[in-house]
Amino acid sequence: MTDQTDVLDAVRRGMIPAHVYNDREIFELEKERVFSRAWVFVGHESEIARPGDYVVRRVLEDSFIVTRDEQGEIRAHFNMCLHRGMQVCRAEMGNASHFRCPYHGWSYRNDGRIVGLPFHQDAYGGEAGFKRKGQRLLPAPNLATYNGMIFLSMDPQAPPLEEFLGDFRFYLDYYTKQSASGIELRGPQRWRVKANWKIGAENFAGDMYHTPQTHTSVVEIGLFREPKAEKRKDGATYWAGAGGGTTYKLPPGTLDERLRYVGYPQEMIDRMTQQWSQDQRDLVGTDGFMISAASIYPNLSFVHNWPRVAESDDVLPFISIRQWQPISEDETEVLSWFAVDAEAPEEFKALSYKAYLMCFGSTGMFEQDDVENWVSLTNTAAGSMARRLQLNSRMGILEDDTEVVPQLTPEQFHGPGSAHTGYSEYNQRALLHRWADDLATPQATAGTLTVGEPEAVTPA
Ligand code: FES
Ligand SMILES: [Fe+2]
Repeated sequence: MTDQTDVLDAVRRGMIPAHVYNDREIFELEKERVFSRAWVFVGHESEIARPGDYVVRRVLEDSFIVTRDEQGEIRAHFNMCLHRGMQVCRAEMGNASHFRCPYHGWSYRNDGRIVGLPFHQDAYGGEAGFKRKGQRLLPAPNLATYNGMIFLSMDPQAPPLEEFLGDFRFYLDYYTKQSASGIELRGPQRWRVKANWKIGAENFAGDMYHTPQTHTSVVEIGLFREPKAEKRKDGATYWAGAGGGTTYKLPPGTLDERLRYVGYPQEMIDRMTQQWSQDQRDLVGTDGFMISAASIYPNLSFVHNWPRVAESDDVLPFISIRQWQPISEDETEVLSWFAVDAEAPEEFKALSYKAYLMCFGSTGMFEQDDVENWVSLTNTAAGSMARRLQLNSRMGILEDDTEVVPQLTPEQFHGPGSAHTGYSEYNQRALLHRWADDLATPQATAGTLTVGEPEAVTPA
């Protein structure tokens, strides 16, 4: 294996060797050292609201049935039959008390326990030959939720999810906790793009610099109330814990006025006011920053924006959650959900969904603008010249690393972490810095589990 020390050192300085966006060896290393330990989003509790509801989601090549069992407990079963390894559940989502393997018909309860083996007596001599008790579909090594968001980690020793997310939880609440009921999801739409997975994650983490150029046409057709995309430099970017994002600076006003400005109805504003902490209220109400796009390391992103949905001047906000699911070094499956506060009025939900569809998802104008860049970039990164080029990702800092615009003080920005106004690439650097640290750290090998010996976990 190639020694990647020079590549990772350059990345930590904010100089990105261009080939990292299309490199087989780097991708293999990402599988082994990023996705084998991070907490990866696999769905939201609202997608599996009733007992028996399930969705099938992947972490790289590993398929999991994420389900709510009859007791209401959320589980993630490795979607591979204990017998000959067939994929037990082939549907994408549904409701089932049991899963029966299509190959030879072994069946499992939705809590993972095996219940039926055809011809158990004749084929195995009954319990004497194959003891069903204690046998279950392999559970995900680690599973946890935050604000109803379900994450799993392939590392049984992963730090607790809340610790992993760290102070980013403060910002996560704006997207996922606008009332005590939290959000509900619609989707996901899924599609594949011939682009490296890191590009989307970096873009949503902090690339407000691309808006005036890439999305000019969307601004020109008057989809937004803000007439100039250049307005983005007045917003702050922040980084805290496992993630970071961008904000817009809103015109002067109170918390209520500013939430109304982006299109929230009063009843939703009242619930947000109740739900959010003083600092969370101050960041919007006093400091005037409204969250927009964000990413959590490694591959989960969010967006909150407020386009015009009708001929009038009125705008309406929407939230989207999206995942950049790596397929290979040059291909990504995008999963794009619409998210909305579960207590929002029905009319708001309908219009917010329309706003989302105009901007993101397979029909979204932003989506299409963005992806054109990302595919082209990935393509060019495969060539030999890309191996000689270091991309400059040092925006916002001078040669000696001092800041072009000083960090905002806690009085100017009431959220945790560090925040800056002005054009910068602090967040893209923070994300890739974390990535470089993971890539430099070998992962301990996982143990194995053998059918017939459910308790036998042998360290390799
Ligand atoms: S592979 Fe599932 S029953 Fe045989
Ligand atoms: Fe964009």
